[in-house]
Amino acid sequence: MSFELSQRLQALPPYLFRELDRMRDEVKAKGVDIIDLGVGDPDRPTPTHIIAALDEAAQNPANHQYPAYSGLNAFRDTVAAWYAKRHGVKLTPATEVCSLIGSKEGIAHFPLAFVNPGDVVLVPEPAYPVYHSGTLFCGGVSHFMPLYEKNGFLPDYKSISDDVLEEAKIIWVNYPNNPTGATAARDFYEELVEWAKKWEIIIASDAAYSEMTFDGQPHPSILEVPGAKDVAVEFHSLSKTYNMTGWRIAWAAGGEQFIKGLGLVKSNVDSGIFQAVQVAGMAALEGDQEPVRAMGRLYGERRAALVKGLEAAGLKVFPSKATFYVWVKLPEGLSSSEFASRLLHEAGIVATPGNGFGPSGEGYARFALVEETGRLNEAAARLAELKF
Ligand SMILES: Cc1ncc(COP(=O)(O)O)c(C=O)c1O
Repeated sequence: MSFELSQRLQALPPYLFRELDRMRDEVKAKGVDIIDLGVGDPDRPTPTHIIAALDEAAQNPANHQYPAYSGLNAFRDTVAAWYAKRHGVKLTPATEVCSLIGSKEGIAHFPLAFVNPGDVVLVPEPAYPVYHSGTLFCGGVSHFMPLYEKNGFLPDYKSISDDVLEEAKIIWVNYPNNPTGATAARDFYEELVEWAKKWEIIIASDAAYSEMTFDGQPHPSILEVPGAKDVAVEFHSLSKTYNMTGWRIAWAAGGEQFIKGLGLVKSNVDSGIFQAVQVAGMAALEGDQEPVRAMGRLYGERRAALVKGLEAAGLKVFPSKATFYVWVKLPEGLSSSEFASRLLHEAGIVATPGNGFGPSGEGYARFALVEETGRLNEAAARLAELKF
């Protein structure tokens, strides 16, 4: 007997990377030394003081029971203190902060709180795919906003027609951006807040890479804009900042009504983060930030190493000050999939085809800087042998 998947699952876009994964495994099986720059998962370990905090907290039986879905009060206090210090933003921890089991969880669940079947969600593309899948799961309709290089990969939301905007409930933005590495200035957020108030649209700002800057300066937070909390909620994560992707800890912060709505969803579907992990997350946010700055410098160094090879191969790299992604424009006529396949077969390098993030990513490829500089020098040498 076989059961049909729900319409919402059938509506999901096909997984474009399956074929690339298969090809990678095939090439690897032939004994090729693969340099895998496909997945955006930090290669370095979590700093030791964070692991030590987990060790200690895991011994405490008080941390063995169900946690609160919204997070330990102490964790939320720490997040609020972090915002005050890093962004000069004042938050009320109990009502304006909620912990998340990774920001992916919050991003996927948030629309369930505010989107009814048929409502429109404004979704950038190319982008992290969860903005669209979260929309589909609550019966919403994604209106895609293509991100173009000529606009610095910022959405041209002002060109969206009034009919669409009248039905729109949420606009997603993500800076520093995956996959392009684009950043946004404070005035981008100021204009967005003003516009969102006019149209009564919630701004969901994904700031998962806000601390991943090469110069250690924080990327602006939308919550720095006066009055932003009326319309905005921001999703943050400890995953990339502290090399903690496997730990599953993040938070949402912003207007009370948004945190309350998200909390209502979460109280029905999960039971929060293991408290010992929250204690370790506090150690991450409160402790020495030099490891974060050092990682930022390291990503800048790794980027320079790879870019040398990409340029030698005749490719155009989008300049970036943040994230650990390198977004590359391919020569006219070369598709993202052809490029990824040639790179794998001719140089043993795995990159992600840009169209995997949305149709406007066609003609681009993404490299994640998740190998040491020496390996990236090796990748650069292999790239320099190719001509595109
Ligand atoms: C743009 C963006 N947002 C959110 C996430 C989710 O991160 P996490 O669930 O580990 O916090 C990712 C992960 O790659 C991402 O690229």
